[in-house]
This record gives sequence, C-alpha cells and structure tokens, in this order.
Amino acid sequence: MRKIIIDTDPGQDDALALLLALASPDELDILGIVAVAGNVPLHHTLNNARKIVELSGRTDIKIYAGSDRPLRQTLVTAEHVHGATGLDGPDLPEPTHPVETQHGVDFIIDTLRNVTDVTLVTLGPLTDIAKAFQQAPDIISKIREMVMMLGAWRELGNVTPTAEFNAYVDPEAVDIVLNSGANLTLLPLDATHKVQSTQDRLQVLRDMANRTGPQAAIMLKASEAFDIKKFGWDGAPLHDPCTIAYLLKPELFTGRAVNVSVETQSQLTLGMTVVDWYRATDRWPNANFIHDAEAVGFYDLLFERLRRLP
Ligand code: RIB
Ligand code: CA
Repeated sequence: MRKIIIDTDPGQDDALALLLALASPDELDILGIVAVAGNVPLHHTLNNARKIVELSGRTDIKIYAGSDRPLRQTLVTAEHVHGATGLDGPDLPEPTHPVETQHGVDFIIDTLRNVTDVTLVTLGPLTDIAKAFQQAPDIISKIREMVMMLGAWRELGNVTPTAEFNAYVDPEAVDIVLNSGANLTLLPLDATHKVQSTQDRLQVLRDMANRTGPQAAIMLKASEAFDIKKFGWDGAPLHDPCTIAYLLKPELFTGRAVNVSVETQSQLTLGMTVVDWYRATDRWPNANFIHDAEAVGFYDLLFERLRRLP
C-alpha cells in the first residue's frame, strides 16, 4: 500500500491518471489531491479535479487548492491542447464535492510532518512542491519518493523546441526539486511518448459497459488533436497516467540513475531538462529517469482498472 498525495493540473491526461489512482484503493491510499495552475488557471483545474473525483464515485477523497501561478514566471497555460475549461469533451455536471479550506501547500507540509512513508505524485508544474520545500525543508527527508511527469531528453520539448510543459511553466520550481536531495523518479516524454492512445485503444474505452470508459474516451478525443497534428501519430501520448502505472506496475518501466538539471536563465531553452546520460559531468545522479515504457501492459492495466469504476 502506497500513501500518496497527487498534485495535478487537470487536463484530460491528468483526469485519466486520477481515475487510474481512484480505481486502485487496494494499492494506493490517496491522502489528498491538490489542484495547481498549469494546463488552465487554478479555478478550472480545481473544478476539474472535483468533477473527476465525482465521476469516480470516490467522494471520500479530499481536494485542496494549491498555487495559482508559478514562483517567478508568468503563468503559461495550454488551452490549445485541453480546451478553455481544461477538460473539454465530456459533459460532466458542475461539481458539489467540497474543497478543503486548508491551502494545498500547507496540507502537503502538515501531511509530510505527521504521516510517514508518503509518496508525492506530480502531474503538473512543481510550484506547490517547491513552495513546501522552501517553507519546510525538514519535510524533504520524510518523503518516500517523488514520482513526477516531468521533462524530456531525446524527445526534446512539447511546448517549445526544448522544454516539456510541466518543466517550462515553472522552471525555478523544478530547479528547487532537482537540487533538494529528495528521492526522485521522472516519467518524461521519453517514456510517455511510448504509450499512445491510438484509435483502437479509444474504442476499447468507448465499449466499456460503465460510464467512466466512454467519458474517458471523450476526454482523450477532445485533447488528441495537438499531438496528432504535431507528431503524425495514430493517437496522443498519455502522459500523466504513467506516474500511477509506475506505482502500480513498475516492471512496465525502465529507468536509469542520471543527473537531471533544468535551464532557468536562457529564454531560448527555458525549462529544458538537461540529462547527463553518459556521465559527461561530475553532477550527481539525482533522479531515476524512466526512458522506456511497455505500452501493451500499460493499457491492459489502465483498462482493467477503469472497468472497476462506475
Ligand atoms: O507535457 C505534458 C504535461 O503537461 C502533462 O502533465 C499535461 O497534463 C500537461 O500538464
Ligand atoms: Ca498534467
């Protein structure tokens, strides 16, 4: 059983990650979900997190509001991928699930100070985590593992020629986390580009006998156009669920301990994650960089779990 906190900027792929986690209560004890600004502004990511929890039927889950902007950069959003609401596609009712009054950063700090063996899962910019580390550095050593959808090496960038979106939105936050000494596992584009939601896979979701499957298909159909146009694939990569799948079945993924650093100064390469794959420097290997993912096993797991939901 992993005790986890999920920090997320839903986003359709975030939504699938949340559903995968919410469908796995025997392996994942979700201590809370924190919405952060990223794909769309905070009011939308928060609303979307509430909608997804309600769709899953897991109304036992607590939801918190996190940061509404990066540490220093002006917020860059991705409505061109996810739509104006960040969850375009499904027609989900306006949520009634409550938002906790405690700020998400304070929730992260308090939980790590009082609960042992917690894993932090990040699906968006790292603003909340960086703030928690700045305000309470004592929590860093208490974290079992940070599992982050973040960065890229051979896959270069998706929001600029050199930067992956989560790293690009708040590179200063990434720099704080990469230099924190925490136990880090990255699920970068090098892994997520290997698990594409092809049209056949979307049909499996559509054919599910429950409500969640068809809704998930509508979500992914609504957000696939950007990647299909850019890469010419038969489907969009399913980024964020790789973090949850890694926790559930790590054998589906292959990683390597390397140094990962991030560009925070250059406007040309801002947010670029620089991976010292061949140990060309003496920079210490600070992360388990997942560079490969087994797509058939990943989707078998995703489908099997989503079928458990209402
Ligand atoms: O680069 C992909 C990441 O950026 C995913 O987390 C997606 O949801 C967006 O946040
Ligand atoms: Ca995300």
